Amino acid sequence: MAKLEMKQIQKSFSGVPALRGVDFELRAGEIHALLGANGAGKSTLMKILTGAYTSDEGDILVDGSKVEIATPADAKKYGIQCVYQEVDVALVPYLSVAENIMLDRQVNRKGSFFKWSSLYRDAEGILARLGFKIPVRKKAEELTLSEKQIVLIARAIAQDVKYVIFDEPTAPLSVKEADQLFALMQQLKKQQVGMIFISHRLPEIFQVCDRITVMRDGQHVLTKAKGDTSINQVIADMLGRSFSEEFPKKHVPVGDTLFEVRGIKSGKKVRGVDLHIREGEIVAVAGLVGAGKTELARVLFGADPRDEGEMILRGKSLSIHQPTDAVREGVVLVPEERRKEGILVEESVRNNLTLASLRQFTSFGFVRQSSEAAKSGLLVDRLGIKTPSIHQLVGNLSGGNQQKVVIGKWLDTDAQVFMFDEPTKGVDIGAKTDIFKLIGELAEQRKGILYLSSELQEILGIADRILVMCDGQIVKELTREKATQENIMYYASGGK
Ligand SMILES: Nc1ncnc2c1ncn2[C@@H]1O[C@H](COP(=O)(O)OP(=O)(O)OP(=O)(O)O)[C@@H](O)[C@H]1O
Ligand SMILES: [Mg+2]
Repeated sequence: MAKLEMKQIQKSFSGVPALRGVDFELRAGEIHALLGANGAGKSTLMKILTGAYTSDEGDILVDGSKVEIATPADAKKYGIQCVYQEVDVALVPYLSVAENIMLDRQVNRKGSFFKWSSLYRDAEGILARLGFKIPVRKKAEELTLSEKQIVLIARAIAQDVKYVIFDEPTAPLSVKEADQLFALMQQLKKQQVGMIFISHRLPEIFQVCDRITVMRDGQHVLTKAKGDTSINQVIADMLGRSFSEEFPKKHVPVGDTLFEVRGIKSGKKVRGVDLHIREGEIVAVAGLVGAGKTELARVLFGADPRDEGEMILRGKSLSIHQPTDAVREGVVLVPEERRKEGILVEESVRNNLTLASLRQFTSFGFVRQSSEAAKSGLLVDRLGIKTPSIHQLVGNLSGGNQQKVVIGKWLDTDAQVFMFDEPTKGVDIGAKTDIFKLIGELAEQRKGILYLSSELQEILGIADRILVMCDGQIVKELTREKATQENIMYYASGGK
C-alpha cells in the first residue's frame, strides 16, 4: 500500500529540541489527525515533510524507500502539498487570487506559452469544483482571512497530489465552509489521497478522521484508530493530565456604563451599531463568519474609517481616527489576524509583550531594561507561553503561542475597554482555559470586555450579555440566562 513514513525525526532550533525522535505514518486514502498542545511540534514535523525545514536526524520513506526531501520542490515531486497555518506567509499579497492558486503550476510549466484568460478560467474552475466562490482577479491582500485560507486549499489541490497536509485549515472558516472542506476531503479520500489534518477543534477531528496521532513536547505519544479513543482520552494524552472542557465563569458584579457607541457605520460591513458595556461586564458579539464582527472591532479601534457614529467612554466623547488614538483613550483590540496586525514577528517576545505598556518602563525617555524583562517574564508564566526565552523572535513561536503573545501585550496596560476578536482561534484546549481566566480577571478589575466570536459554546460560557450580529447590525440582545446555542443561531442566520 502506498504510504509516507517519517522515522525518528529530530530537530532543534538553536540547541532547543522541538522534535525528539518522532515516528509518523500516513497511508494513501486515509485522513490522519495530528494533535498536540501549542508548541508540541506539529507544524515543525509537517515543515520537514514538505521540505520547508530539514531535519537534524531521521528518515523519510515513500512507499518503503528512503527519500531526500531537502526543498519544497522535492516534496512536490512526491506529490506532497501543504496548506500552511500562516496564510499570510504562504500567499503573495500583490498577486491575484488566480495567480496565487496557479502559482506552482506556472512555475512548473516554464517555457510554455502563458495565457491570462486561461489562468483566470482554470482558477475559477478549481474554485467551482471545490464549491467555493471568490473573485479570481482580486488581489490576495484584499481578501478576508477565510478567503485566504480557501485560496491556499485551492492551490494545494490544483496540483497532482498524493498527500495533502492541512495545518489548521478550519480556524478562519465558517461552519458552512468547513463542511465544504470536509466534503472535499472525502472526495480526495476516494481518489486515494492521504491527508494529515491538524486542528484544535476536537469534535471536527472526530467527525472526519480515520486515525489519530497525538504528540506532546516534541514526542510521539500514540497513534490509534478513531474508534479506539475518545475526545476526553485524546485531551488527556495531549496535555499529559486529565481535563474537562469547562469555561470557568467568575461572577463579577456589574457597575455603571463604561463604554457606549451609537450609530456606528463603516462601509458596507458595519451598518449602524449601538452597544454599551458596563464596568466588569463581558459582552459577547456573536455572529457567523462574515457578519461584520471583525469590521466592527476594527472601526471601534480606529483601524478602519468610521463613516458615522459616536463613541463615549465614561461619559466623555472620544475622537478615535487611528489605533494610536484608541490606545491613548484606553480602548484596545486583540485582532483576529494576529500575524498581520497583532504582533511584530521580527521582534522578540519581550519587546512584543512590553510594547503596549512601554510608558510604564520609561523613565526620562529611557527604557529600563531590567523591569521590562521582569514584567515580560511574568506574562510568559501567566499565559503559559512556550518559548525557550523572552529573547526568542515571536515569528519563531508556534501559532498558538503567538496568539498568547498578542493577548499578553495588552494585559498590563491601563486600558479600560478590551476587545477580543476570536481570541481562541488556534489555541489549544488548556491554553483556552487560561485565556478565559485572564478575561475573567480583567472583568474583576472593572474593565469592560467586548468578546467577538463565532464559537457559541465559548460565548455561552463566558458572556454576561450576548449581542447577536447579522449582516452588519445587532439584531438581538440576549441575557446570559436566556441565551442558548439554538436561539443565537436563529438570529445570527437572519431569523426575526
Ligand atoms: N524557526 C524556528 N525557530 C525557533 N524555534 C522554532 C522555529 N519553528 C518552531 N520552533 C519551536 O518549535 C516548537 C514547536 O513548534 P510548532 O510550531 O511545531 O508547534 P505546533 O505543535 O505546530 O503548535 P501550534 O498548535 O501552536 O501551532 C515551539 O517551541 C517553537 O517555538
Ligand atoms: Mg502549528
